[in-house]
Amino acid sequence: MPLTVERLHPLFAAEIGGVDLTRPLDDAAWRGIEDAFEEYSVLVFHDQRLNDEQQIAFSRRFGELETTVASAGNAGKTSVVADISNVGADGNLLPLDAKEMKFRDGNEMWHTDSSFKRVPAKLSLLSAREVPPQDGDTEFASLRAAYASLPPDTAHGLENLIAIHSYTYSRGLIDPDLFTPEQAARVPPVPQRVVRANPQNGRKALFLGSHASHIEGMPLDEGRAMLKDLLATATQPQFIYRHRWRAFDLVIWDNRAILHRGCGWDKARYRRVMHRTTVAGEVSA
Ligand code: OGA
Ligand code: MN
Repeated sequence: MPLTVERLHPLFAAEIGGVDLTRPLDDAAWRGIEDAFEEYSVLVFHDQRLNDEQQIAFSRRFGELETTVASAGNAGKTSVVADISNVGADGNLLPLDAKEMKFRDGNEMWHTDSSFKRVPAKLSLLSAREVPPQDGDTEFASLRAAYASLPPDTAHGLENLIAIHSYTYSRGLIDPDLFTPEQAARVPPVPQRVVRANPQNGRKALFLGSHASHIEGMPLDEGRAMLKDLLATATQPQFIYRHRWRAFDLVIWDNRAILHRGCGWDKARYRRVMHRTTVAGEVSA
């Protein structure tokens, strides 16, 4: 089966066909996927009936896997597979006010995964195991396209800025009790460059999102206002690809070049079960 690559948006995102990710890939297929990933930043694979083991095996081809951080989002239990769902361990829908649900609601703010870690994520791989009959889309915005749209003076002015990213800041916007003090102590704020270059091809992107609290060396409100403006620039409609999920889609995205957010669904009524693996990236600042 030859690999096929079909554009989903004028600026980024592609659908990949002709590949079965439940089985080991030959070198040609793997190289095609790797190249497409660096080029398009978001890749969509349909009809991939992956179990966790197969998802982990494919994810590992991109690099070392991250482990989730202990929080109210996972009842303090860490794993290489993040459960992004509204179903509890007993198989029933979680109540809307459950801490797991509140924690996962944070995914509906624009963000890049693990920007709160000293070593942020390279890519995330999200496998749709059960999808609601309506809504529950995910939006992706290109931080490369956003960077390229900036007037040269503005881009130049951002070059050496450092943003401070914090998981307790972003989740604190929802509920200050989503981390115990012990859990919070394990995720101290970290510095990240506001402009990052891709280590393979040098292409530059903004690096922003909900975990970005403020700018180092700038008054808090001024830094926050700047981050808010940049986020508004980055999430203009022309920079967004919206993914409508089908069951057994696998969507992977480059956290170094993409913002994403969940769009919500009727969580009291419909099940949505997604499993995420995350590959670690490189220190940026
Ligand atoms: C994630 C995430 C959004 C969604 O899995 O990292 O942000 O739509 N998901 O589930
Ligand atoms: Mn996410």
